[in-house]
Amino acid sequence: MMRKFWFLIPALFLLAAGISFAEGPELARTPPMGWNSWNHFRLNINDAVIRAQAKAMVDSGMKAAGYEYVVIDGGWEGYHDAKGVFHSNNKFPDMKGLCDYIHSLGLKVGIHDSPGPVTCSGREASYGHEQQDAETFARWGIDFVKYDWCSGSKVYKPDQMKAAYDKFHQAMVSTGRPILYSLCQYGMQNVWEWGASVGGNMWRTTADIQDDYFHMAYIGFEQNGLEKYAGPGHWNDPDMLEIGNGQLKPVEERMQMSLWSLLAAPLFAGNDLTNMTPETLDILSNREVIAVDQDREGIQGHRVWQRGPMEIWMKPLADGRKAVGMFNREKRPMTMTLKLKDIGVTGSAKLRDLWAHKDLGSFTGSYTTRVPGHGVVLLRVEP
Ligand code: GLA
Repeated sequence: MMRKFWFLIPALFLLAAGISFAEGPELARTPPMGWNSWNHFRLNINDAVIRAQAKAMVDSGMKAAGYEYVVIDGGWEGYHDAKGVFHSNNKFPDMKGLCDYIHSLGLKVGIHDSPGPVTCSGREASYGHEQQDAETFARWGIDFVKYDWCSGSKVYKPDQMKAAYDKFHQAMVSTGRPILYSLCQYGMQNVWEWGASVGGNMWRTTADIQDDYFHMAYIGFEQNGLEKYAGPGHWNDPDMLEIGNGQLKPVEERMQMSLWSLLAAPLFAGNDLTNMTPETLDILSNREVIAVDQDREGIQGHRVWQRGPMEIWMKPLADGRKAVGMFNREKRPMTMTLKLKDIGVTGSAKLRDLWAHKDLGSFTGSYTTRVPGHGVVLLRVEP
């Protein structure tokens, strides 16, 4: 009898493999990348704006560089109807159509929502409608939800925050659609300690970034110590990029891109992708820098050395290599020395400058270089 059906054995194997494939690869295996409407457009978004940004993500080469999610932040919300169904406002007449369009470009779609009754801009949100709203998002084809605390404290006590986040997670899971879960509650209650336990794939660790050097640097350099909470599937999120929004100088933009990559942070461009200077595009799509962020080991970097405004950060990479950022937070240029032993390298190492795209040669003991004011020299070190 068994002999008759031996040919079914490979089929059973394929079926078993198919089942695990169907669950899909783990979400956010490497830090999520994409674009978010908030930093540049604030509430001034509509269907046409989002479509144009999605198309520009492809046409500019950003998609090819790894950017994937198009996130519609606050400004799309309409109302819950008598049956409790959530509708977009009239600037977004056809959410499903918009999602289909973004998917047709090979991209994914994100949306902003809140566990409170209203968002931070006073628009309707999901309190009391969690299950139905998750189903609506899944029906539209949403792949990413940024769940922003906003008015959460009006209806929940502080010790109910975790449960409120878990509630929406469970609601999303029950839809059967894989949806990346982005927690946004500004780092309250040490979210890095419990974000992953409520299904979070990323969680904001700070208050909102602003388009200026002070906020960017303050947020970025304050991440030290959180590295043990990040890893494949769940990342610390120091908020979005301000590159190309006008107030950071190019050196400062290279600082943000370098620091965020060393932090294995989600990389969400926050500028107008339809109107970028070649320099902005060059900074956002530097593949050698993105490769640091997206390294398959998924280890968040940390500070290894500091003297006043000079800081050296290191991120271990796959195959024993390391990425190293030599940062100068002073306005004027400084000469800085990287001691290889500070990054755990005893013999000699080959160095490559990831912004100059240049091999620097082999060094033993240390490497000394000039770092521009508010700037960075980003290296890949190969022992
Ligand atoms: C909060 C978030 C921002 C953005 C706005 C939208 O401030 O932290 O990232 O989503 O809400 O209102």
